Amino acid sequence: MEETTRFTTLLSNPYNPPWTKPGKTKQEQGLLVGVDESGKVLKTTLRLIKNSTILGPDIQNLNLIASIEAEDFVRIRITDSDKERWEVPQEIVPRKSYSKTQTQNHRPTSVETQVLFHPSSDVVFTIFNTTPFGFTVSRRSSGDILFDTSPEASKADTILVFKDQYIQLSSSLPKDRSSLYGLGEHTKSSFKLRANDSFTLWNADIGSANPNVNLYGSHPFYMDVRVGTNYTGEKTGSSHGVLLLSSNGMDIIYSGDRIIYKVIGGIIDLYIFKGPSPEMVVQQYTGLIGRPTAMPYWSFGFHQCRWGYKNVSDVEGVVAGYRKAGIPLEVMWTDIDYMDGFKDFTLDPINFPQEEMKKFVDTLHQNGQKYVLILDPGISVNKSYATFIRGMQSGVFIKRDGIPYLGAVWPGSVYFPDFLNPKSRVFWSNEIKLFNDVLPFDGLWLDMNEISNFITSPATPNSTLDSPPYTINNAGVNSPINNLTLPATSLHFGNITEYNAHNLYGLLEAKVTNAALINVTGKRPFILSRSTFVSSGKYTAHWTGDNAATWDDLAYSIPSILNFGLFGIPMVGADICGFSRNTTEELCRRWIQLGAFYPFARDHSAIDTTRQELYLWDSVAATAKKVLGLRYRLLPHWYTLMYEAHTKGTPIARPLFFSFPQDANTYGISSQFLIGNSILVSPVLKPGAVLVDAYFPAGNWFDLFNHNNSISVQNGKYITLDAPADHINVHVREGSILALQGEALTTQEARETPFELLVVVSSKENSSGQVFLDDGEDLEMGGEGGKWSLVRFHAGIIGEKVMIRSSIVNPEFAASQKWVIGKVTVIGLENVKGIKGYELFSNKKNGDRDFVVVSFHSNGEFGIVEMSNLSM
Ligand code: NOJ
Repeated sequence: MEETTRFTTLLSNPYNPPWTKPGKTKQEQGLLVGVDESGKVLKTTLRLIKNSTILGPDIQNLNLIASIEAEDFVRIRITDSDKERWEVPQEIVPRKSYSKTQTQNHRPTSVETQVLFHPSSDVVFTIFNTTPFGFTVSRRSSGDILFDTSPEASKADTILVFKDQYIQLSSSLPKDRSSLYGLGEHTKSSFKLRANDSFTLWNADIGSANPNVNLYGSHPFYMDVRVGTNYTGEKTGSSHGVLLLSSNGMDIIYSGDRIIYKVIGGIIDLYIFKGPSPEMVVQQYTGLIGRPTAMPYWSFGFHQCRWGYKNVSDVEGVVAGYRKAGIPLEVMWTDIDYMDGFKDFTLDPINFPQEEMKKFVDTLHQNGQKYVLILDPGISVNKSYATFIRGMQSGVFIKRDGIPYLGAVWPGSVYFPDFLNPKSRVFWSNEIKLFNDVLPFDGLWLDMNEISNFITSPATPNSTLDSPPYTINNAGVNSPINNLTLPATSLHFGNITEYNAHNLYGLLEAKVTNAALINVTGKRPFILSRSTFVSSGKYTAHWTGDNAATWDDLAYSIPSILNFGLFGIPMVGADICGFSRNTTEELCRRWIQLGAFYPFARDHSAIDTTRQELYLWDSVAATAKKVLGLRYRLLPHWYTLMYEAHTKGTPIARPLFFSFPQDANTYGISSQFLIGNSILVSPVLKPGAVLVDAYFPAGNWFDLFNHNNSISVQNGKYITLDAPADHINVHVREGSILALQGEALTTQEARETPFELLVVVSSKENSSGQVFLDDGEDLEMGGEGGKWSLVRFHAGIIGEKVMIRSSIVNPEFAASQKWVIGKVTVIGLENVKGIKGYELFSNKKNGDRDFVVVSFHSNGEFGIVEMSNLSM
């Protein structure tokens, strides 16, 4: 890029009439800004002072509006003053739009610096009287600068550039204090971004076994975690989030001390979320983009899938195999094999005939199991195919040059429904309903929705859409953006170009499918989508796509899953045992050990690979029973974390720094993670290993498989743990209370077992935990309807006694369900001075000790459990 000074805030009054200060040069005039009466919105105009024709002509005048609409974030919006431009549709991320009339009345004043802040917000926006133009967003409490666009002298990449098809924005970062996470979707070996990482955002069907290239989804969001000190000088973490809300293709370059965005269209719509805790950042981010949709209870069970199941008896055999081995199986899936000629909403009449499939699904349902099937967006162009005929009649397909665009996927020639077209909602919902009448599936799997296309159509000659002036680093090799997808000149409803809407397709498909499933089943939908965008979590779960059965891919799954938690899509998992390539017994064993603790746990493999159902090897089966046993005991906890995600946005699987932001050693960890705030998973990720080096933040930690094994660390440190072939280390931290239930082969059976309360006491803090209870598939999770309860547990040590109390929101519901806490287990007492050993309360029938059987009462309490005589 040619070195030049582009934009300034000087030179002219953005408001009429033109304004000058007598006797001063333009440079001396000061900055002209208007701030509205509330003090929350600032407007100025940027004028171009030096043209460059590289990558197209510059836009001459820009409006900049900075606003603090909510105290959680600052928003900076920069766009062409004279012409409307494409931006992410308002229905997707609702946000304020500022009209000219709204902002033109604010009397502009001439100042050297203008600061915008909200009395109750810690983030401030400052614009300076400088050429070239720059602004900062900083933290009021500490003065820390969070985003600083001031360009670096003689570095052309650091100035603001705004052209029709090239926008450049950058911020400097404090190299030694700032740790960045997010910006996806990419496979990375390190969760923390590394200096000189770059990220291309352009949705593509590129297998996730390929690190460092653009994959299926686009999330221009990052979290910046910094070590800081609070007013007492104590070390704390201080985090903020940054979203550049744009659906256009882009490259993002992170040098370590700077981040540079190079976007091929749209506008600048930038949000800085104040945090300061990582949890708050995600809460604030999902507060803007939408909270994650609630997942049904059953979706936390174990899922089995494979591309290449031959026929109904093949899948029946798999279900039977799991039952025989005593390994939980909740959901059986079918891939494209079930279709007739790979046509959506059809059944292969020979291998998956309707009658047999119906019987198969009915049997699953009778056994408390579920069935999910795949759908691809491409609709086979075939005049005797009813779905195609109906699609043509309603005119819902994406067009190019005035006719439906012809692509090619599994069925051969296809047209793609345009999910921006309101008619597609009716079309898609109707197809789903008709097929659900044929086969009562429980959830839908949306694949190939980047959109994946097996052909690349020739570019339209001289089209700057098909061949834009700036080439993003598509596929890591600067591939044309049209490669193996729809051409950028294709048109959606309302003449929206594929160029602008490309990254939104998976999101829009998930949104329409979610509405359709609600319509058809009346129940809480379960959708798994490969392609995602900002706010997809409102509609769908996600899996990390086509990984490979390698040890590297096993390890990559952790950063990928943690990223999707940051992106507001907490229900996420990787294909357990690996998708492509042949797995091995050892890899599959280690993978189910880790995968049992993914929020979404599904074994899936590619056609022509060796089979990898968990019962196929004795050692894998044995380990699967053990780890899925713990997963199922934790089901109430998983589900409660779903409730937290749904109401607050917090991820289910979290990086360690979420709970320990003050411990900078946690910032670089990519091989361990937390479930919620207190369960630490430390998997083996290397072949042949029987030891694992695991980092333990300060505190007492207890092995969830064997409470007698505990680890105690004063200051966080690495500890080498035994990890024999059949074992994964999973520890719970002091201070937590977990609600557990019994092991079972299905979630339905597990839900019928009594609860166990696991109270991990601490001498330093009170313990707490909660459990969310509802029927598991109501459309609303914790909504107005009130058919739910939230029980909060607290435990503290008073003298020699552990006191456990509960409080309950909506007690009537829990009372009506007759749930029972059959057992209270207290661990960690050995660490509390004056109290020795731990007491296991059991049902009276089983022994002659003090006993506790606690049931939920309708008076809002479940009772007080007082534990005395602890030296047994
Ligand atoms: C690609 C998907 O990523 C994979 O999971 C699936 O098995 C194949 N398409 C076949 O449908």
